[in-house]
Amino acid sequence: MTLQAANFEQKSAEELLRWSMDEYGADAGLASSFGVEDMVLIDMVAKLGGGPITLFTLDTGRLHEETYEIMERVRAAYGLEIKTYFPDRDQVERLVREKGFFSFRESVDNRKECCRIRKVEPLARALGELKAWVTGLRREQGITRTDIPKVAEDRDHPPLIKINPLADWTQEQIHAYIKKHDVPINALHKKNYPSIGCAPCTRPVERGEDVRAGRWWWENPEHKECGLHPTDR
Ligand code: ADX
Ligand code: SF4
Repeated sequence: MTLQAANFEQKSAEELLRWSMDEYGADAGLASSFGVEDMVLIDMVAKLGGGPITLFTLDTGRLHEETYEIMERVRAAYGLEIKTYFPDRDQVERLVREKGFFSFRESVDNRKECCRIRKVEPLARALGELKAWVTGLRREQGITRTDIPKVAEDRDHPPLIKINPLADWTQEQIHAYIKKHDVPINALHKKNYPSIGCAPCTRPVERGEDVRAGRWWWENPEHKECGLHPTDR
Protein backbone atom coordinates (compact mmCIF):
# COMPACT_ATOMS: atom_id res chain seq x y z
CA MET A 1 0.00 0.00 0.00
CA THR A 2 1.41 3.41 -0.90
CA LEU A 3 1.02 6.42 1.35
CA GLN A 4 -0.97 8.24 -1.32
CA ALA A 5 -3.30 5.34 -2.05
CA ALA A 6 -4.38 4.67 1.50
CA ASN A 7 -7.24 6.66 2.94
CA PHE A 8 -5.71 6.96 6.38
CA GLU A 9 -8.11 9.57 7.72
CA GLN A 10 -10.96 7.04 7.62
CA LYS A 11 -9.00 4.33 9.44
CA SER A 12 -9.47 3.47 13.10
CA ALA A 13 -6.59 3.57 15.58
CA GLU A 14 -6.43 -0.23 15.63
CA GLU A 15 -6.38 -0.38 11.82
CA LEU A 16 -3.53 2.12 11.71
CA LEU A 17 -1.53 0.17 14.29
CA ARG A 18 -2.13 -3.06 12.37
CA TRP A 19 -1.06 -1.33 9.14
CA SER A 20 2.10 0.05 10.82
CA MET A 21 3.11 -3.40 12.02
CA ASP A 22 2.29 -5.13 8.69
CA GLU A 23 4.14 -2.50 6.71
CA TYR A 24 7.19 -1.91 8.93
CA GLY A 25 7.35 -4.70 11.53
CA ALA A 26 9.95 -3.99 14.22
CA ASP A 27 11.17 -1.04 12.10
CA ALA A 28 8.07 0.77 13.41
CA GLY A 29 8.59 2.31 16.84
CA LEU A 30 5.87 3.21 19.32
CA ALA A 31 7.13 6.30 21.16
CA SER A 32 5.81 6.27 24.70
CA SER A 33 5.97 8.55 27.69
CA PHE A 34 3.35 6.26 29.29
CA GLY A 35 0.67 8.94 29.47
CA VAL A 36 -2.97 7.94 28.89
CA GLU A 37 -2.75 8.15 25.09
CA ASP A 38 0.34 5.96 25.00
CA MET A 39 -1.28 3.47 27.37
CA VAL A 40 -4.25 3.18 24.96
CA LEU A 41 -1.83 2.45 22.12
CA ILE A 42 0.15 -0.05 24.21
CA ASP A 43 -3.07 -1.84 25.16
CA MET A 44 -4.16 -1.96 21.50
CA VAL A 45 -0.78 -3.34 20.44
CA ALA A 46 -1.04 -6.03 23.13
CA LYS A 47 -4.56 -6.94 21.93
CA LEU A 48 -3.22 -7.17 18.37
CA GLY A 49 -0.71 -9.75 19.55
CA GLY A 50 2.07 -7.60 20.98
CA GLY A 51 3.92 -6.77 17.80
CA PRO A 52 6.11 -6.76 15.93
CA ILE A 53 6.70 -3.16 16.93
CA THR A 54 9.51 -1.54 18.92
CA LEU A 55 8.23 0.14 22.09
CA PHE A 56 10.64 2.90 23.05
CA THR A 57 10.90 5.69 25.57
CA LEU A 58 13.19 8.64 26.21
CA ASP A 59 14.28 8.75 29.83
CA THR A 60 15.31 12.36 30.36
CA GLY A 61 16.65 11.68 33.86
CA ARG A 62 14.07 14.12 35.29
CA LEU A 63 10.93 11.95 35.24
CA HIS A 64 8.46 11.47 38.11
CA GLU A 65 8.72 8.39 40.30
CA GLU A 66 5.14 7.55 39.19
CA THR A 67 6.30 7.41 35.57
CA TYR A 68 8.91 4.77 36.40
CA GLU A 69 6.20 2.87 38.29
CA ILE A 70 3.87 2.75 35.29
CA MET A 71 6.79 1.75 33.04
CA GLU A 72 7.46 -1.15 35.36
CA ARG A 73 3.77 -2.10 35.31
CA VAL A 74 3.81 -2.17 31.52
CA ARG A 75 6.77 -4.55 31.61
CA ALA A 76 5.00 -6.77 34.13
CA ALA A 77 1.39 -6.58 32.91
CA TYR A 78 2.00 -6.68 29.17
CA GLY A 79 5.37 -8.42 29.09
CA LEU A 80 6.60 -5.89 26.55
CA GLU A 81 10.24 -4.93 26.27
CA ILE A 82 10.83 -1.18 26.61
CA LYS A 83 13.78 0.16 24.66
CA THR A 84 15.01 3.09 26.74
CA TYR A 85 17.17 5.90 25.40
CA PHE A 86 19.10 8.16 27.75
CA PRO A 87 20.65 11.58 27.05
CA ASP A 88 24.31 11.87 26.14
CA ARG A 89 26.25 11.85 29.41
CA ASP A 90 28.83 14.48 28.36
CA GLN A 91 26.17 16.93 27.27
CA VAL A 92 24.17 16.58 30.50
CA GLU A 93 27.28 16.92 32.64
CA ARG A 94 28.32 20.08 30.77
CA LEU A 95 24.82 21.57 30.97
CA VAL A 96 24.41 21.20 34.73
CA ARG A 97 28.02 22.18 35.44
CA GLU A 98 27.68 25.40 33.46
CA LYS A 99 24.03 26.34 34.06
CA GLY A 100 22.84 24.45 37.13
CA PHE A 101 19.91 22.12 37.70
CA PHE A 102 17.05 24.48 36.83
CA SER A 103 18.40 26.42 33.81
CA PHE A 104 15.13 25.70 31.95
CA ARG A 105 13.27 28.15 34.19
CA GLU A 106 15.48 31.07 33.14
CA SER A 107 14.49 31.49 29.47
CA VAL A 108 12.75 29.72 26.59
CA ASP A 109 16.18 29.27 24.96
CA ASN A 110 17.56 27.57 28.05
CA ARG A 111 14.45 25.41 28.28
CA LYS A 112 14.81 24.36 24.66
CA GLU A 113 18.50 23.62 25.23
CA CYS A 114 17.62 21.24 28.07
CA CYS A 115 14.87 19.59 25.96
CA ARG A 116 17.30 19.32 23.04
CA ILE A 117 19.88 17.51 25.17
CA ARG A 118 17.50 15.36 27.19
CA LYS A 119 14.82 14.59 24.56
CA VAL A 120 15.51 15.68 21.00
CA GLU A 121 18.98 14.17 20.57
CA PRO A 122 17.95 10.83 22.13
CA LEU A 123 14.86 10.82 19.89
CA ALA A 124 17.07 11.32 16.82
CA ARG A 125 19.12 8.31 17.92
CA ALA A 126 15.98 6.23 18.44
CA LEU A 127 14.52 7.24 15.08
CA GLY A 128 17.83 6.46 13.36
CA GLU A 129 17.05 2.79 13.97
CA LEU A 130 13.49 2.97 12.57
CA LYS A 131 11.53 3.48 9.36
CA ALA A 132 8.31 4.69 10.95
CA TRP A 133 7.18 5.92 14.36
CA VAL A 134 3.84 5.95 16.11
CA THR A 135 2.87 8.62 18.64
CA GLY A 136 -0.06 9.42 20.93
CA LEU A 137 -0.46 12.96 19.59
CA ARG A 138 -4.02 14.32 19.44
CA ARG A 139 -5.36 17.40 17.62
CA GLU A 140 -7.25 18.50 20.71
CA GLN A 141 -4.02 18.90 22.68
CA GLY A 142 -3.51 22.56 21.82
CA ILE A 143 -2.86 25.17 19.17
CA THR A 144 0.41 23.57 18.09
CA ARG A 145 -1.33 20.28 17.22
CA THR A 146 -4.67 21.10 15.55
CA ASP A 147 -3.55 20.08 12.04
CA ILE A 148 -1.64 16.87 12.64
CA PRO A 149 -2.36 14.16 10.04
CA LYS A 150 -2.95 10.52 10.94
CA VAL A 151 -0.14 9.38 8.64
CA ALA A 152 2.46 11.48 6.82
CA GLU A 153 6.08 11.65 5.88
CA ASP A 154 7.86 13.19 8.87
CA ARG A 155 9.45 16.35 7.50
CA ASP A 156 11.47 16.76 10.70
CA HIS A 157 12.93 13.26 10.42
CA PRO A 158 13.04 12.23 6.77
CA PRO A 159 12.56 9.64 5.42
CA LEU A 160 10.54 8.38 8.38
CA ILE A 161 6.78 8.01 8.33
CA LYS A 162 4.94 9.40 11.36
CA ILE A 163 1.71 7.73 12.42
CA ASN A 164 -0.70 9.36 14.88
CA PRO A 165 -3.51 6.79 15.30
CA LEU A 166 -5.30 8.85 17.99
CA ALA A 167 -5.11 12.18 16.12
CA ASP A 168 -8.89 12.62 16.06
CA TRP A 169 -9.65 11.11 19.47
CA THR A 170 -11.16 13.27 22.20
CA GLN A 171 -10.06 13.13 25.81
CA GLU A 172 -13.43 11.51 26.62
CA GLN A 173 -12.74 8.69 24.13
CA ILE A 174 -9.34 8.11 25.71
CA HIS A 175 -10.84 7.84 29.20
CA ALA A 176 -13.70 5.63 27.96
CA TYR A 177 -11.16 3.20 26.41
CA ILE A 178 -9.06 3.16 29.60
CA LYS A 179 -12.15 2.39 31.68
CA LYS A 180 -13.61 -0.21 29.33
CA HIS A 181 -10.36 -2.16 29.02
CA ASP A 182 -9.16 -1.56 32.57
CA VAL A 183 -5.85 -0.16 31.33
CA PRO A 184 -3.29 0.74 34.03
CA ILE A 185 -2.36 4.43 34.07
CA ASN A 186 0.22 6.74 35.63
CA ALA A 187 -0.95 7.53 39.21
CA LEU A 188 -0.39 11.23 38.52
CA HIS A 189 -3.41 11.33 36.17
CA LYS A 190 -5.66 10.92 39.24
CA LYS A 191 -3.95 13.94 40.81
CA ASN A 192 -4.99 16.31 37.99
CA TYR A 193 -2.04 15.76 35.69
CA PRO A 194 -3.69 15.13 32.28
CA SER A 195 -0.35 15.57 30.47
CA ILE A 196 2.90 14.37 32.03
CA GLY A 197 6.45 15.23 31.02
CA CYS A 198 9.49 15.88 33.20
CA ALA A 199 8.85 16.41 36.93
CA PRO A 200 10.19 19.98 37.22
CA CYS A 201 8.31 21.08 34.07
CA THR A 202 4.86 19.61 34.81
CA ARG A 203 2.25 20.73 37.33
CA PRO A 204 -1.37 19.70 37.93
CA VAL A 205 -4.06 21.68 36.07
CA GLU A 206 -6.96 23.63 37.57
CA ARG A 207 -10.57 22.80 36.68
CA GLY A 208 -11.37 24.12 33.17
CA GLU A 209 -7.72 24.59 32.19
CA ASP A 210 -6.33 23.26 28.92
CA VAL A 211 -4.98 19.66 29.13
CA ARG A 212 -1.43 20.86 28.50
CA ALA A 213 -1.67 23.95 30.73
CA GLY A 214 0.51 22.20 33.30
CA ARG A 215 3.40 21.68 30.89
CA TRP A 216 6.05 24.49 31.01
CA TRP A 217 3.30 26.52 32.64
CA TRP A 218 5.46 29.62 32.85
CA GLU A 219 5.68 29.87 29.01
CA ASN A 220 3.18 31.04 26.34
CA PRO A 221 1.06 28.33 24.61
CA GLU A 222 2.84 28.81 21.25
CA HIS A 223 6.14 27.74 22.85
CA LYS A 224 4.76 24.56 24.39
CA GLU A 225 6.68 22.08 22.28
CA CYS A 226 9.95 20.54 23.32
CA GLY A 227 11.25 19.68 19.87
CA LEU A 228 9.93 16.11 19.71
CA HIS A 229 7.10 17.44 17.54
CA PRO A 230 8.20 20.78 16.06
CA THR A 231 5.42 23.14 15.03
CA ASP A 232 6.82 24.51 11.75
CA ARG A 233 4.68 22.46 9.41
S1 ADX B 1 5.76 16.59 24.48
O1 ADX B 1 6.46 16.86 23.22
O2 ADX B 1 4.96 17.71 24.96
O3 ADX B 1 6.64 16.03 25.53
P1 ADX B 1 3.51 14.90 24.89
O4 ADX B 1 3.87 14.68 26.31
O5 ADX B 1 2.29 15.71 24.60
O6 ADX B 1 4.75 15.47 24.07
O7 ADX B 1 3.41 13.50 24.18
C1 ADX B 1 3.02 13.36 22.82
C2 ADX B 1 3.59 12.07 22.29
O8 ADX B 1 5.01 12.20 22.14
C3 ADX B 1 3.41 10.88 23.19
O9 ADX B 1 2.14 10.29 22.99
C4 ADX B 1 4.55 9.99 22.77
O10 ADX B 1 4.22 9.31 21.57
C5 ADX B 1 5.66 11.00 22.46
N1 ADX B 1 6.51 11.23 23.63
C6 ADX B 1 6.47 12.28 24.49
N2 ADX B 1 7.41 12.16 25.46
C7 ADX B 1 8.07 11.02 25.19
C8 ADX B 1 9.13 10.31 25.82
N3 ADX B 1 9.72 10.77 26.93
N4 ADX B 1 9.55 9.13 25.27
C9 ADX B 1 8.97 8.65 24.15
N5 ADX B 1 7.95 9.28 23.51
C10 ADX B 1 7.50 10.43 24.03
FE1 SF4 C 1 14.56 19.64 30.56
FE2 SF4 C 1 12.11 20.32 31.39
FE3 SF4 C 1 12.60 19.72 28.80
FE4 SF4 C 1 12.61 17.82 30.70
S1 SF4 C 1 10.83 19.06 29.99
S2 SF4 C 1 14.06 18.03 29.06
S3 SF4 C 1 13.55 18.94 32.44
S4 SF4 C 1 13.38 21.47 30.00
